Amino acid sequence: MPPFAVEFVYVVSGFLFVLGLKRLSSPVTAPQGNAMAAGAMLLAVVATLLDQQIISYGTLAAGLVVGTVIGALLARLVKMTAMPQLVAVFNGFGGGASALVAAAELLREGGANPGAAEAGAAAIGILVGTVTFSGSAVAFGKLQDLLTQRPVTFPLQKLVSGLVFLALLAGAVMMILGEVGPEMLLAMGGLAFLLGILLVIPIGGADMPVVVSLLNSYSGLAASAAGFVLGNPLLILAGALVGAAGLILTQLMCRAMNRSLANVAFGAFGGGGTVAAGDEGERIVRRTGAEEVAMLLGYASRVIIVPGYGLAVAQAQHEVKKLTDLLRKRGVEVVFAIHPVAGRMPGHMNVLLAEADVSYELLLDLDDANGAMERTDVAVVVGANDVVNPEARKPDSAIAGMPIVDVDRAGNVVVIKRSLSPGFAGIDNPLFYLDHTLMFFSDAREAISDLAREVKEL
Ligand code: TAP
Repeated sequence: MPPFAVEFVYVVSGFLFVLGLKRLSSPVTAPQGNAMAAGAMLLAVVATLLDQQIISYGTLAAGLVVGTVIGALLARLVKMTAMPQLVAVFNGFGGGASALVAAAELLREGGANPGAAEAGAAAIGILVGTVTFSGSAVAFGKLQDLLTQRPVTFPLQKLVSGLVFLALLAGAVMMILGEVGPEMLLAMGGLAFLLGILLVIPIGGADMPVVVSLLNSYSGLAASAAGFVLGNPLLILAGALVGAAGLILTQLMCRAMNRSLANVAFGAFGGGGTVAAGDEGERIVRRTGAEEVAMLLGYASRVIIVPGYGLAVAQAQHEVKKLTDLLRKRGVEVVFAIHPVAGRMPGHMNVLLAEADVSYELLLDLDDANGAMERTDVAVVVGANDVVNPEARKPDSAIAGMPIVDVDRAGNVVVIKRSLSPGFAGIDNPLFYLDHTLMFFSDAREAISDLAREVKEL
């Protein structure tokens, strides 16, 4: 294949990557965007293989078969609630692969001085790629409950991390000056592996989605660096797109929690919180059950459902869809309020509800939901806690300033959860004690299924 033809395919692929990414911004166009970007990647891979004999086609085919089998199994077997740790694994492997490619390319050149730019890019690839690999492994361990969810801290931790980082910088400078032997690459890899662990262990388990998104951005940066080492412009572009997208997503998550990235990285927040001391003893909780709530919902004009992490844990999305259909048949307007950080990963609630075929036309973002709240007869909170906690309006609260779904402004509030336990932030929720709040203590799936049965009988 003539070089200009390969370059042309790369430009077309790059264009399709950008278009595909743009289309991912809405659920309507997202499947198209996904297909577009996947097609672009296929084009790029085919053009690269036609252009260069990297390794034998037989080895590549074997890798392809193994990868396809693993991918297909994961897609079938991994539960929706385990998606964050799966993404962590993907990021880790992406970063690790970029680090190995960068190192292998330098070694392949047989110790010939690669030049400052290539050695610098390789140093970045090895550093960032290996940090991504070990950091993602820790994130996976925390999300999978193999490691403690609590922030792990020790004296002088930041100093130790800082020193390891400085040693890595010194190594990068030495590489740029021509030290690119196997020992140097191993030392860089080992130190970067340690840094990845040091950076992620002090972060609480529930902040892992933010960490995973940040590591996703790092994996893009590592791929870009590997692209520089290989002299492959499309890899540079694709890596830069992943890096930028991951960083933007990280920022959006932090903004939705009203926390800075520094607070997530160094605040040792979450992971086994306790309820703030309060006067629970004097406060009255109004308990309810399926029959009463079915009456409320069945004779309402407008209902807003607020899904949260508990809905995902209980896998209640299909029951919620059934209840929604029953209510809509009765002429009740039912919509969903989607908080940007409800659940444990970006778009968690959208994905769950889409899985149950809930039309995205029924999904309101935070502003639209809050705009409609005063005209709403019943707000039903299903396994959500922090995202509806009015404490966020108080400046001294742990979640101060976090935008919330203002369910307390609806005519009636029904909260479905198993107990009065706090959510991820570990703070008490005064919503549970309001005069117009009814607490339905149950597993979300059971509660919604009981509700659907009662609504049918109305
Ligand atoms: P949370 O505040 O974590 O509350 C979830 C509630 O679900 C718990 O209080 C729990 O109460 C209940 N629950 C658990 N299992 C249940 C079940 N089987 N049936 C019914 N209820 C169940 O969830 P949220 O309101 O969705 O807020 C998300 C939190 O995660 C926020 O603090 C957010 O900042 C944080 N976070 C989110 C993200 C992203 S990207 N989504 C990223 C980082 C951090 P019981 O035990 O009493 O049932």
